[in-house]
Amino acid sequence: MLIRMLYLSRSVGPQTTMMTSSILATALDFNARNGITGVLCQGQGFFLQVLEGERSAVNRLYGRIAQDTRHKDLEVLLVDDIQQRRFGNWTMAHVVLSDRSPVVPMQHPSFDPYAQPGRVLLERLDELIATGHPIKNVVA
Ligand SMILES: Cc1cc2nc3c(=O)[nH]c(=O)nc-3n(C[C@H](O)[C@H](O)[C@H](O)COP(=O)(O)O)c2cc1C
Repeated sequence: MLIRMLYLSRSVGPQTTMMTSSILATALDFNARNGITGVLCQGQGFFLQVLEGERSAVNRLYGRIAQDTRHKDLEVLLVDDIQQRRFGNWTMAHVVLSDRSPVVPMQHPSFDPYAQPGRVLLERLDELIATGHPIKNVVA
């Protein structure tokens, strides 16, 4: 039984390349072994992550992620039963929101993702994926 989960969190401390590399290295290994796919979007102090996979696997992983002290204020925005993965090509795609990101309003400094419905944020992620531009494909 497959699900897709979307959650939002706030980074504790700056979102350095080192922090991101360490998260992605763990994700690459763990997610591949546990049938998890998704996307990790970061920027402006926020993390927005989609996790897809078997319901039990996604819940187990979320339990670990929720205890990670590198972020706080975790809010689950959406959990859906799914027939197909949306991010099936990515063990964990990585999207960095930068000033050059063509997608508004997520890159706007005053944009507060905590004030947005989950579906809106998921649509924004779809747009980011569709542009292809800011995505690092961690695993083909
Ligand atoms: C924003 C964020 C996203 C993360 N995403 C994943 C992920 O997709 N897969 C994963 O295995 N670990 C991910 N982690 C790392 C886990 O929180 C945790 O450090 C890792 O699973 C090791 O857990 P352990 O210390 O209990 O062994 C993420 C951490 C953060 C802060």
